[in-house]
Amino acid sequence: MAFLTEHDAIYKTKEDICAHVGDDYAEYKGAIVPPIFQNSLFLIPTEDNGAPSIGYNYTRVSNPTIEVAERKVAALEGADGALCFASGMGALTAAIMHFAGAGRHVVMIRSVYGVTRVFLTDFLEKRFGVAVNAVNGDSTDEILSRVRPETSLILLESPSSAVFKLQDLQAIADFARPRGIATVIDNSWATPLYQNPLAHGIDLVCHSASKYLGGHSDIIGGVAAGSRELIGKLSGTRFLLGANMDPHQAWLLSRGLRTLPVRLARHSQSALAVARFLEAHPRVRRVLYPALDSFPQRDLARRYLSGCSGLLSFVPDGAPEGIKKMISKCRYFQHGVSWGGFESLIVGISVGADEQSAAAGDSPANLVRLHVGLEDPDSLIADLDQALGWLDR
Ligand SMILES: Cc1ncc(COP(=O)(O)O)c(C=O)c1O
Repeated sequence: MAFLTEHDAIYKTKEDICAHVGDDYAEYKGAIVPPIFQNSLFLIPTEDNGAPSIGYNYTRVSNPTIEVAERKVAALEGADGALCFASGMGALTAAIMHFAGAGRHVVMIRSVYGVTRVFLTDFLEKRFGVAVNAVNGDSTDEILSRVRPETSLILLESPSSAVFKLQDLQAIADFARPRGIATVIDNSWATPLYQNPLAHGIDLVCHSASKYLGGHSDIIGGVAAGSRELIGKLSGTRFLLGANMDPHQAWLLSRGLRTLPVRLARHSQSALAVARFLEAHPRVRRVLYPALDSFPQRDLARRYLSGCSGLLSFVPDGAPEGIKKMISKCRYFQHGVSWGGFESLIVGISVGADEQSAAAGDSPANLVRLHVGLEDPDSLIADLDQALGWLDR
């Protein structure tokens, strides 16, 4: 757990935050990047009178290398503090368990990351007596209509990462906060560069740091950011669950964060070029990307997102077999799950029938998700162009 310090307060822009927040470790022999404290325990510091003083004691509680990454993400999210976790799921499950419990009720956006959904419905609901309602998520009225007296949590993901549904964060937070209902959002797609949910009244922001924050497809990690009070309490939950990040992962995360602004700008530009190419292609029925004028929730996207990252979906005009062929013929877009790294990826996505409306009634099996990486955008477009030619062959 780390909170922002006086040193961190100097840095105001996101570029400066990424570069310098948390970097007051020059006392360690002038190190320009943080040392990796790859140790499990620290000796208990003592006062002159022999009493133990506050300091590091065990890495499951806190660790100086991990705190560097925590301070960067806290500053980027406009939070008092942040906590790193072993994975995005570690952050999300700790946050959900912190607010949910037997006899309590959770309202969840149906299009949240599939594993989060399964955790709530198959694990907490079936085995631990937490009531869960899944809602479509593109209508605030629908979300709020499911709230009950025992609702303790509204779980959001905006935009979600397959059908890109957005929620009106301010309206939901304005409703939830006075009623004592917590709001938690998975902000992995937008990253703290393009959306800051705490500024709209959301209580806790979670990230899969395995995506853009790490940015090189070489770490699994998660982060949660929020108020001093909430991060303090959540740190107790992390201590119990043991889903803390390893110091070496945290070091790689800080390294990734330093270049986040330049990487994301490139992902964003290239994804828009790819999305526009696809939208104009005769063999593409629909493109889902919040930066496009055709995006169904474009007004909400303009209101909440200061940019769009590199993940988008499209519906090719072809049969499932042709789509599989098309995917297999891509050369730059490699066939793989996940996203947020330097590399371009393509994967067929299966979404539930209730999410089909977002894909305009198309068969869910026909949704294809692209992660637009840092390669030359012209190479990426040429790759898709040739691959789409395989739809009927
Ligand atoms: C939107 C979203 N949230 C959370 C996660 C989980 O993150 P992790 O794989 O780091 O546990 C993922 C992973 O794919 C994701 O796509």
